[in-house]
Amino acid sequence: MTIEEKLQELKRRNAEAEQGGGATRIEKQHESGKLTARERIDVLLDEGSFQEIDKFVVHRCTNFGLEKQQILGDGVVTGYGAIDGRLVYVFAQDFTVFGGSLSKAYAEKICKIMDMALKMGAPVIGLNDSGGARIQDGVQSLAGYADIFLRNVMASGVVPQISAIMGPCAGGAVYSPAITDFIFMVRETSYMFITGPEVIKTVSGEEITKDELGGAMTHNETSGVAHWAAGDDEECLLLIRELFSFLPLNNQEDPPIRTCTDDPNRCDSSLKTLVPDKPNVPYDMKELIQAVVDDNYFLEVHEHYARNILVGFARLNGRSVGLVANQPSFLAGALDVDSSLKGARFVRFCDAFNIPLIVFEDVPGFMPGVQQELTGIIKHGAKLLYAMAEATVPKITVITRKAYGGAYCVMNSKHIRSDYNLAFPTAEIAVMGPEGAVNIIHRSEMAEAENPEETRRKLVEDYRRKFANPYDAAQLGYIDEVIDPVETRPKLIRALEMTRNKRDSNPPKKHGNIPL
Ligand code: HXC
Repeated sequence: MTIEEKLQELKRRNAEAEQGGGATRIEKQHESGKLTARERIDVLLDEGSFQEIDKFVVHRCTNFGLEKQQILGDGVVTGYGAIDGRLVYVFAQDFTVFGGSLSKAYAEKICKIMDMALKMGAPVIGLNDSGGARIQDGVQSLAGYADIFLRNVMASGVVPQISAIMGPCAGGAVYSPAITDFIFMVRETSYMFITGPEVIKTVSGEEITKDELGGAMTHNETSGVAHWAAGDDEECLLLIRELFSFLPLNNQEDPPIRTCTDDPNRCDSSLKTLVPDKPNVPYDMKELIQAVVDDNYFLEVHEHYARNILVGFARLNGRSVGLVANQPSFLAGALDVDSSLKGARFVRFCDAFNIPLIVFEDVPGFMPGVQQELTGIIKHGAKLLYAMAEATVPKITVITRKAYGGAYCVMNSKHIRSDYNLAFPTAEIAVMGPEGAVNIIHRSEMAEAENPEETRRKLVEDYRRKFANPYDAAQLGYIDEVIDPVETRPKLIRALEMTRNKRDSNPPKKHGNIPL
C-alpha cells in the first residue's frame, strides 16, 4: 500500500466512525429533537478545538451475536478540547449505537479521559444519553460502570465534573452523573431513573409516566437530583459553557478573573427601600443579589428546588463568587430539609474549588413542623452547619433582616469562621422573633396582667428595641460593620479584596464525617 492508499484507508475509517449507528438512527435522533453526540460536542467546545481519542475502539462482546455488530467508537465519543480557550475533557454518549449502552470497552474510553483529566488538572464534562449497562456485555459492563464510579469519586473535589442528561438515562447511566458536581437536564427529551415505569409497574404495581418519574422538571423541582432544566440541547450546552466560565480548572487553581467594566464603587439607591419596614412583609432577595453583583448577572443554580434558599454564581469586580442567600419571598426564607441540603452541597463545591462564599441572610430560623422533624431536619440542617463551618475559602456575610436562632449560627456567623460580617440597619439578631420570645419569657406576667393585650404589645416593643437591630451584636464584635444598604456592592468588594490572600485550614484528618 502506498501512503496515499493508507491515507485513504484512514479517511474511510474516520468517516465510518463518524457515522455512529448510521443515517437512519441519526435521523431518528434528530426527529426526537436531539442532536447527535458529535453535534453536541461541536456546540459545547470552542470551534475546531476538539481532539478525539479512541475513535476506533470496538467492543469485545461475543454474546447474542454481538460480535457481528462492531461499530467504530462503540457508542461513545471521547476526547479533549477547550471552552473559552481553557482545557476540558469530554465524553458524549451516542444513542444511535446500541442505545448508548455501556460496554467494558466503552467504559475504558471514559476512564481513559477521566484519568487524563485528573493528571492534567482539567474538568470533565459528560454528555449522557444511554440505556445503561449493555445487557449483552453482562458483568463486564457492570465492571465498566464501577470503574467509572471509582474515578468520579477520586476526581470529586479535584477537578470539576459536570453532567448533562440529554436522553433517556437508566440504571448505571444515572449513578455516575449523581456523583458529579452539577447535573443539567433537557426538558421533554431527557429522563433519569434507576428503573423505568415498566419495571416499576411490574414490581410495585405503581403506574407513572416517564416524565413524571424522571423528567427534567421532576428532578429539578421535586427530587433535587438535577440543577438546571434547559429548553433544548443547544441551550443546555451553552449553559454549561456559562457555568464553566466561573470555575477553576482544578482545586489548586483560583477561578478565572474576568475584566470588570462595572464600577466597583457603584452604589444602588433602590437598596435603601428593598427591605420593607414591616418585618413580616416578604421581598425578593434576587433583587438584592442582582443589584450588587457585576453587570447584575447571577447564574442561579438549582433555581426550581427548595426556593427558600438561593444559590449560584456571580462576579464581584471580576472575581467569581458563590452566593448563598435566604429567600424571604418563599416560606419566609426558613431553613428546612431541602434548603439545607441544597445549601450544603453548594457550599462544599465552592470550598473545594476556591470560590469565595458570599452569604445574604434573612432567616426566621429552622422550619418548625412535624414533617420536618420526622424527615430529619436535625441531621439535614446539620449538614449546612457542617459545610459552612468546614469551609476555608473567603467567607463574607450580609445580614439584611432576620438572623434568628440556630439559623444565625449556621448562616456563616463569625463564630464559624466567617471573615467579615456586614449588617443593614434593618437587621434583627436574636434567639427568636419578638412574638415567640415574649410568649415564653413573659408568660406569667401576661397571664396576670389586667390588660394582657396592652402588656403584650409593650413587652414586644421592649424586646424589639433590645434585639430587633444589629447593634447588640455589633457591640460584641459579632458584626464587623453596620452599613447603608446602598453601599453593599463597594463594601463587599473591599471585603473580598481584603480576603484575597486568606490562608486557613482544618486539622489533618483522613476525612470528616458530615452527618449524611
Ligand atoms: C443493550 C440497549 C440497551 C441496553 C437500549 N438498547 N438499552 N441495548 N443494552 N441497556 C438498544 C435497544 O435494544 C435498541 O436497539 C436501541 O438501543 C434503542 O433502544 P429503544 O428501546 O428502541 O429506544 P427508546 O424507545 O428510546 O427507549 C430507550 C430506553 C430503553 C428507555 C433507554 O431502551 C430501555 O429501557 N433500555 C433499558 C434500560 C435499562 O434497564 N438498562 C439496564 C440498566 S441496569 P435496536 O437495535 O432495536 O434499535 C444497569 C446496571 C448498572 O445499568 C448499575 C450500576 C449501579
